[in-house]
Amino acid sequence: MTQTRLLISALAISLLACQKNPAMAKETNVTQEVYGKMPDGKEVRIFTLANKDGLIAKVTEYGAILVLMETPDKNGKLSDITHGYDTLAGWLTNKSYFGATVGRFGNRIKDGKFSLDGKDYTLATNNDPGGIPCALHGGLKGFDKVLWTGKVIGDDAVEFTYLSKDGEEGYPGNLTVSVTYSLNDNNELKWVAKATTDAPTVLNIVQHTYWNLSGDPATTILDHVLTLNAGNYLPTDKGLIPTGEIAPVAGTPMDFTKPTAIGDRVNDDFEALKLGGGYDHAWVLNKGEGMRLAATVKDPKSGREMIISTNQPAIQFYCGNFLDGSDVGKGGVKYARRTALALETEGFPDAPNKPQFPSAVLRPGETYEHVIVYKFSAG
Ligand code: BGC
Repeated sequence: MTQTRLLISALAISLLACQKNPAMAKETNVTQEVYGKMPDGKEVRIFTLANKDGLIAKVTEYGAILVLMETPDKNGKLSDITHGYDTLAGWLTNKSYFGATVGRFGNRIKDGKFSLDGKDYTLATNNDPGGIPCALHGGLKGFDKVLWTGKVIGDDAVEFTYLSKDGEEGYPGNLTVSVTYSLNDNNELKWVAKATTDAPTVLNIVQHTYWNLSGDPATTILDHVLTLNAGNYLPTDKGLIPTGEIAPVAGTPMDFTKPTAIGDRVNDDFEALKLGGGYDHAWVLNKGEGMRLAATVKDPKSGREMIISTNQPAIQFYCGNFLDGSDVGKGGVKYARRTALALETEGFPDAPNKPQFPSAVLRPGETYEHVIVYKFSAG
């Protein structure tokens, strides 16, 4: 064979390989490897997405979890800005929902009960703030604790799929779910959850990453400056279940319509803050069509900023009040109280029991779609 013919066949072989396995394609910025094994021996993969500015997102088939997000600070220094674990074995102990895709129903359902089309459903009660039992984040083994099937899509995305069977954790209908993470060269991490069902069901699939933009998970997020595009929030009862009231934030410590440091008012003598042990509420996003701004959070020291947009009607802002140092995470760090914040775009908590809230019902023939864009910058 001449040199040229050799080169042509080598090219043809690598093209074929790329078609078979998109992860090998030259232009791709997604790689994958085996992360470990589930207790039943099933292999779990982890995928790395990297963009031209060096941002890195790692996602795994276990819980469709965002394992790590590295972004540069104002001096260009990359750090991981999420709480979590170094190994799959660590993630298997994840009781705080770090990084996880949470479902079927993110946040709380009062008493673990709801009725739909005249039929009553009972869910496991796995949480009891204020001593009042409720169903939290999908149940005993929610979407955060199951093994999804991952696949590289195009050159910047990973799609996870999962079939949540009829009756799983007490919810009706076979629910076919996909969650896609993609990272583009505009420094945007996008998360899209889609679902269809073969029988009416309720759902609220939520992304539950804990952020500390400083890159130092041993420090609190009290100096992070937060803005929420929300003029109203949902007050709760002692069990952190929305009362049904939609209350204006104006004149209260719940007002983040202007950039405000989280620590400025978190300990104020205000009923909602006392019940939540700090911020742990749903804010109702200001009306808008389709995708809209939800939150902006900035860490003044590192200069990192994250802007969150979504198509959902609410955002749960939880400032890590329940973290108590018992979760030992990445690098052996004990995650202490308020060392991270979760900003979870969502439908309204307890919507299945509140006819006045936007409906959380999905029926056959409909497609649920929840989109989040996280845009990172520093300066
Ligand atoms: C909730 C908190 C809960 C936490 C569990 C958040 O979404 O708002 O009340 O303790 O999840 O990790």
